[in-house]
Amino acid sequence: MLKGRHLIDSMDFTKDEMKEIFDLSRDIIDKPEAFAHICDGKLLATLFYEPSTRTRFSFEAAMLRLGGQVIGFSEPNSSSASKGESVADTIRTVGCYADIAVMRHPKEGAPKVASMYSSIPVINAGDGGHQHPTQMLTDLLTIQSIKGKLTNHTIGLCGDLKFGRTVHSLIKAMSRYEGNKFVLISPKELRIPEYIKNEILVKNNIEVIEVERIEDVMETLDILYMTRVQRERFFNEEDYIRLKDSYILDGEKMKKAKKDMIVLHPLPRVNEISYEVDNDPRGCYFAQAKYGMFARMALIAKLLGVK
Ligand code: NCD
Repeated sequence: MLKGRHLIDSMDFTKDEMKEIFDLSRDIIDKPEAFAHICDGKLLATLFYEPSTRTRFSFEAAMLRLGGQVIGFSEPNSSSASKGESVADTIRTVGCYADIAVMRHPKEGAPKVASMYSSIPVINAGDGGHQHPTQMLTDLLTIQSIKGKLTNHTIGLCGDLKFGRTVHSLIKAMSRYEGNKFVLISPKELRIPEYIKNEILVKNNIEVIEVERIEDVMETLDILYMTRVQRERFFNEEDYIRLKDSYILDGEKMKKAKKDMIVLHPLPRVNEISYEVDNDPRGCYFAQAKYGMFARMALIAKLLGVK
C-alpha cells in the first residue's frame, strides 16, 4: 500500500511497489485523458531550497495534468527559511495547507527529517550529494520503456560518481534487478563513495569494474549514464576547473558503442555530451526527461491514494 507513504530513499519501495508505479505510468502514457481529473481538489507543495528545472517543473506539470494544483517556493530566500525556520517547522505548517510535499535541499537528510515531522507524504527531490529517488524512478521507467527490461544490463556510469546523487540512487535501485553489471567511469577524485560500494555492490556480490577511460569500455555497455561534475558540492573552484571536462561524449566515441546502447543523462548537461550526439537515435536524455513527468504523475497518484 503506497497511500500516505513518503519517498526519501531509492530503497523505500519494494520491487512490487515500484512495478505498481511503472504500470500506472504506462497507463497514463497510453491514455492521459483518463487521469486528467484524478487529483481534482488536491494540492502539491514544492519546497525547493536548491535550483531545479526538470524536477520542479515535472512535478508541477505532473500535478496540474492530474487536475490538482500547486503552491511552493523555488528559492529559499523567498521563504521563512531565510528567517531561520527549521525544515521540521516548515513541513508542519505546509501540512496544514497541502496534501503532499516535494522537497529539494542542499543538506543530506533534510527531507528525511521533514518526513519525520510531517502529516502529509514527503517526496525527496534531491538531498545534497546523497539521493534522488524520483530521478531513479524516471531512469528505471526510461530503461524499462526503451530497453524492455530492467535485468541483465551492463550499465556504465560516467563522470562525477562521488557527488552525483542520481548515480547513487540508480546504483541502489538497479542492483536489485538480476544480472545487472556496473562499469564505473570516473577520475580517481570522483569515484563512487565507499559506502555505496561496500553496502550495495560488494555486499550483494554485484559485478563491478572501475576505470578512468570511457574509450576502454564503450563497446561493452548497454546503457551509458553520463553526469555533470557537481560544481556546487566542490570545496574549491580549482579542483572543479581541473575535473570539469574529464569526459566529453562525442560522435567519435559513439562509433565504438553498440547499435542499441542508450545514452541517458539526468540533465542539466554542461559539456559532457556534445550536441552532435543529440541527433544520434541512441541519445535518449530528452525522452528520459519526459518519462520523468509520467513517473511523477504515477507517484503522486499512488501516495495520495487516488484512482
Ligand atoms: C540532477 C540533480 O539535481 O541531481 N538534476 C536533475 O534533477 N535532473 C543532476 C544534476 O544536477 O547534475
